[in-house]
Amino acid sequence: MCGIIGYIGKDNSVKHLIEGLRALEYRGYDSAGAAFFDNEGRLCSVKAAGRLANAEAKLTPLPDSTCGIGHTRWATHGAPSDTNSHPHGTESLRLVHNGIVENYAAIKTELSDLGYTFESDTDTEVAAKLLDYYYMKEKLTAHAAIERMTSRLVGSWALGILFADAPDTIWAARQGSPLIIGVGKDEHYIASDITAILRYTKDYYQLDEGEIAKVTRETATVYKDGKEVIKELKTAHWDIEAAERGGYAHFMIKEINEEPAAIRTTLHSRIKDGLPYFSSDGFDTKIFARISRVHIVACGTAMHAGLIAKGVLGSLAKLPCEVEIASEFRYNDPLIGEHDLVLIISQSGETADSLAALRLAKEKGAATLAIVNVIGSSIAREADAVLYTMAGPEIAVASTKAYSVQTALLYLLSVEAALVRGKLDLDAAKMRVTELYERVPEAVAEMIARENEIKAIAEKIAPNEDLFFIGRGADYYLAAEGSLKLKEISYIHSEAYAAGELKHGTISLVTPGVPIIALCTVPRLYEKMVSNIRETKARGAETFMIASADTGVADGTADHILRLPAISAELAFLPAVCALQLIAYHAAAARGCDIDKPRNLAKSVTVE
Ligand code: AGP
Repeated sequence: MCGIIGYIGKDNSVKHLIEGLRALEYRGYDSAGAAFFDNEGRLCSVKAAGRLANAEAKLTPLPDSTCGIGHTRWATHGAPSDTNSHPHGTESLRLVHNGIVENYAAIKTELSDLGYTFESDTDTEVAAKLLDYYYMKEKLTAHAAIERMTSRLVGSWALGILFADAPDTIWAARQGSPLIIGVGKDEHYIASDITAILRYTKDYYQLDEGEIAKVTRETATVYKDGKEVIKELKTAHWDIEAAERGGYAHFMIKEINEEPAAIRTTLHSRIKDGLPYFSSDGFDTKIFARISRVHIVACGTAMHAGLIAKGVLGSLAKLPCEVEIASEFRYNDPLIGEHDLVLIISQSGETADSLAALRLAKEKGAATLAIVNVIGSSIAREADAVLYTMAGPEIAVASTKAYSVQTALLYLLSVEAALVRGKLDLDAAKMRVTELYERVPEAVAEMIARENEIKAIAEKIAPNEDLFFIGRGADYYLAAEGSLKLKEISYIHSEAYAAGELKHGTISLVTPGVPIIALCTVPRLYEKMVSNIRETKARGAETFMIASADTGVADGTADHILRLPAISAELAFLPAVCALQLIAYHAAAARGCDIDKPRNLAKSVTVE
């Protein structure tokens, strides 16, 4: 996703812009640029397609500047190119944007009729020239011009703006895309997220929907509908070290290694006297006695965490549960109402489709609960209640520890739902909670400790271009996440398939040497899985079985077996997914891929 940074203070602004954009690289981008006032107050700008280093080369030696804005672009309208890079604007102003202006074409025609010309293919340039029209032609004040311009836009935006005749001010605006104001001593920042400014300050204001901010060295003033609003000053709990690699080769492997601690931290305050305890979250779990169905709505890995929750909510709490892709849910006119709970899962808390799904659920009168990792994010703030996962910053584009803490928390929540609905007795609940909190982190740590064994499996898989993950029940849900992890960082095409469904067509793709990764953690389905593995072996597949510690595997059942640490079948998904994450990581490493910033991907998809 695009990244925005701005600085105004006594220090060199371009240095801060470059460092801030470097900290935002994890969001994924294809070009970068900056606008700044030089030491004679002239408004200048530089931009370049490709890596940040290309724009940085145009900013070397550092210009003498104390006020500027910077941007990394993740292309939505117009290919990656110098011209399409941000900032966009005129002699009178420069603007950077994260989001999508859906009605840009009509506005572009209107502005062309007014004599404006356009160099780029972007929606952002249209927004910038619409602002110019209100500022320079209609002679509105900066604030009024921004209000007028944004009132014309349909879509989402986080904006950073410099006006040529106001070298001591940065303007910002937010609708649908996150933006914060960092607070320093006689200096201020604007940023897409806290990671960009953590090295300078942990104090910030979170802009809310429709808010506009005027930022100078000394002040940050926020407006909504023309009136000043008082904002609560927040303090980030993450320090820059936590957000940096800490000696690991990649953020992804660092974050996998953090899973045992992240699971414990997420659960710790939610267990009391050996039972689930959500009162400190301000979430009233009695709702589980009132609702008739849970709709879990999310994207990508978060949606796969929801699949695991579907299984556990059904088996433990006997609670019907649907899992829906947010981009589908939001346009399918979902049949939900007051007897439904919509559960939104999101690491970033800013995924546009998931945020839109949350808003739709609220419109339809459903109760809403969010499970989010980024404190104060949009989804967290707009849901009726939020349960924060406490995984710390997840920087790698491929989500790993977030999935692990989401599923661990959802398992605990399912035990609570089962107790509330009278489907589980206290002893059975305590036994599960104890194993979740005590044994799971150990089992995940044991899996991580066997990284070399897993790396050997990954290196057998790495040369392939196609493979299948198969499973039944919870293992099918796990296969979905294993497949996504492998695809998104190693670029190996794979599919997750219900093992029993393979023979209904897709097995035609199983030819000699095709790897089959079979998840076999569900005891009651093991024999069925063995049959499915045999079906693929009979066609020459190279079979990899991920099996529970105590499963009796007959000789010759699979070519390779990876045993999980001893743990109850209900909780095997946590060490198992760790193995799948490590397989993906080492396969990608063997293929020389950009593991933390895979091509075409963004960490937080804040556009549709
Ligand atoms: C996961 O590895 C991907 N990066 C992606 O599928 C991600 O899970 C999805 O975009 C949802 O993001 P969120 O959890 O921040 O909402």
